[in-house]
Amino acid sequence: MALFERDEWVLLVTQKGKKWLVQIQDAPFSTHLGTIHMNEVVGLEEGEALETSKGAKLYPFRPTLEEFIFAMDRRTQIIYPKDLGAMIFYGDLYAGCTVLESGVGSGALSLGLLRALGRQGRLISVEKREEFARMASKNIHRFFGHAPENHDLVVADIQDFSLSCKVDRVFLDLPEPWHAVLSVSQLMREGGLLLSLSPNVGQVQLMHKELKSNGFANITTFELLRRDWKVDEKRARPMDRMVAHTGFITLAKKTPVAFQSGGEEP
Ligand SMILES: C[S@@+](CC[C@H](N)C(=O)[O-])C[C@H]1O[C@@H](n2cnc3c(N)ncnc32)[C@H](O)[C@@H]1O
Repeated sequence: MALFERDEWVLLVTQKGKKWLVQIQDAPFSTHLGTIHMNEVVGLEEGEALETSKGAKLYPFRPTLEEFIFAMDRRTQIIYPKDLGAMIFYGDLYAGCTVLESGVGSGALSLGLLRALGRQGRLISVEKREEFARMASKNIHRFFGHAPENHDLVVADIQDFSLSCKVDRVFLDLPEPWHAVLSVSQLMREGGLLLSLSPNVGQVQLMHKELKSNGFANITTFELLRRDWKVDEKRARPMDRMVAHTGFITLAKKTPVAFQSGGEEP
């Protein structure tokens, strides 16, 4: 693996698991554990220890996407990694597909989609508020080290958004996603998939109603619970606390006719 270079963003980790996301620049970095000079990270391998002015050890690593998402600047609610993973899988992303996403917020979903697409395919992200678009763009640039060429981040209202091509997938993380269904359905190819994340079940009901009246079928909603376990020599049991609820994921397919599920063929 490549050695650390100037301007990279690095995760500095203590042995007890405390983490800081810091850019490698000609500048000191201080915590309650003492100070290091970030220049010292240049040329190190991942995991090579650095000693602070107080004799504590810090270990530099390249952040995984999950680590980056929890350490990056966030001013909006983000989609949690457990839901991101499921949305990317059930969204059936494939090399070369064109994806439309709204709203962008802090950019957690955009990062997951860009990571899954790689250099193939295209992501169009639509965000109404300029300050969030700017923050997401900064987070994306930080994670990849550059602005991905296959990404367009547009400041616009998804309800009035238009495109010259049809998209294969739509991902929505909006407070009122049902208001966006009509506009995005006109931008999708038949057979395309729409995924939407909403924290409240009332939002899900309105979403189902709107999807049904706009040519969507196979509409399903599910939620995912992740329960971590405490495991050592003495015990193996669930943790006392968990992130009990994040959101409901709704998945639907754009179709030319309203398909019904479970009925007998004549
Ligand atoms: C919960 S945040 C999205 C978080 C993001 N998916 C992430 O994982 O970081 C919801 C975003 O939707 C944006 N939004 C709300 N209504 C919108 C609309 N009509 N068109 C575009 N963006 C909208 C908000 O400004 C906000 O940034």
